[in-house]
Amino acid sequence: MTNTSASNINQQWRLAERPTGMLDESTFARHDEPLPTAGPGEILVRNCYLSVDPAMRGWLNDIPSYVPPVQIGAVMRAHTVGQVVESNHPRFTPGDFVSGPGDWQDYYVPRQEALSGHGDPGFAVTQVPPGAQPSWSLGVLGLTGLTAYFGLLDVGRPHPGDTVVVSGAAGATGSVVAQIAKIAGCRVIGIAGGEDKCRWLTDDLGLDAAIDYKSERVRRRLRELAPNGIDVFFDNVGGPILDAAIARIAQGGRVVLCGAISMYNATALPPGPATYVQLIGQRARMEGFIVFDYADQYDIATQRLFDWVNDGRLKVAEDIQEGFDNIPAALIGLYSGANLGKRVVHIADPPIA
Ligand SMILES: NC(=O)c1ccc[n+]([C@@H]2O[C@H](COP(=O)([O-])OP(=O)(O)OC[C@H]3O[C@@H](n4cnc5c(N)ncnc54)[C@H](OP(=O)(O)O)[C@@H]3O)[C@@H](O)[C@H]2O)c1
Repeated sequence: MTNTSASNINQQWRLAERPTGMLDESTFARHDEPLPTAGPGEILVRNCYLSVDPAMRGWLNDIPSYVPPVQIGAVMRAHTVGQVVESNHPRFTPGDFVSGPGDWQDYYVPRQEALSGHGDPGFAVTQVPPGAQPSWSLGVLGLTGLTAYFGLLDVGRPHPGDTVVVSGAAGATGSVVAQIAKIAGCRVIGIAGGEDKCRWLTDDLGLDAAIDYKSERVRRRLRELAPNGIDVFFDNVGGPILDAAIARIAQGGRVVLCGAISMYNATALPPGPATYVQLIGQRARMEGFIVFDYADQYDIATQRLFDWVNDGRLKVAEDIQEGFDNIPAALIGLYSGANLGKRVVHIADPPIA
């Protein structure tokens, strides 16, 4: 069992100060509020699992981005999955499991736009698919899985026999990308930090090879493992690994810019990819994307991901941390690779049996 709040208190983690460089625990502060209640047309959700995501670091900077910055003093923004405990809305019944913009707190009342599906597509309240573990709606069946799905299949466009290289391959998004690339009939090389993660990629997920960027020379290993070049490079990390992969891009290759975690806590911009001229000679493409742009296709993609999970072709990798007090530490750990698969924080069991 984990920490559950006293019945009339809503525990929260709020943004205390804007960090410079690496986050630390003073970035966030604990706050208690009275429990909210559901008004007309509203629901009250008890959060059970909270998501921690590398992108959260960017949401703390006071600069325009694909989502507005979190304001100082505001509850930390996060996707959550929880159980409806009060409902005055025809689409929801107490006991339903929903994912949505629950933030780092015990309970929330979603805004009307989040319930109606007319608000920001990244922050809608949706039902957990029947038969799925609720936490999967933050990982393989949530924005993580959808990011992997659309980033690889729509931006990367793999063909059977292609050589696909994935950075951050043992993380939430990367591990799903790598497995979808295998399903698509590709030869897949993962890049991850540490021998254990690399062994997991080849032995448990069935990748063709893995490179430990912490102990091996990535550029040399890519030369050995991808002698004919890289057809698709799915990048979660940026920096020197992106540089090394571009240097080996194949003719007509695709570089999918999903994220750049190696830069998220940097205080100065690193030099740009020195190898980018390879894109010219190789007629290769480098393209960024944001998963929210595919919101109108989420349902069909989620069903496909769930089918792959059910038929055993897509393994669910979750890294579940325990307890409300541990949320900031769980986030900070992402930036040193403490997780294997999708990291979530379990804060409560569902209150309704
Ligand atoms: N474009 C979109 O719409 C979208 C949506 C969701 C996520 N993303 C991006 O996707 C990427 C992965 O996110 P995720 O949620 O799946 O997180 P994640 O991969 O589960 O966690 C982060 C991983 O990054 C690796 N890492 C940390 N610092 C690193 C560094 N300096 N160099 C290389 N690797 C480093 C660590 O693995 P190692 O042990 O291997 O170092 C860590 O486990 C992030 O960049 C995120 O911003 C983009």
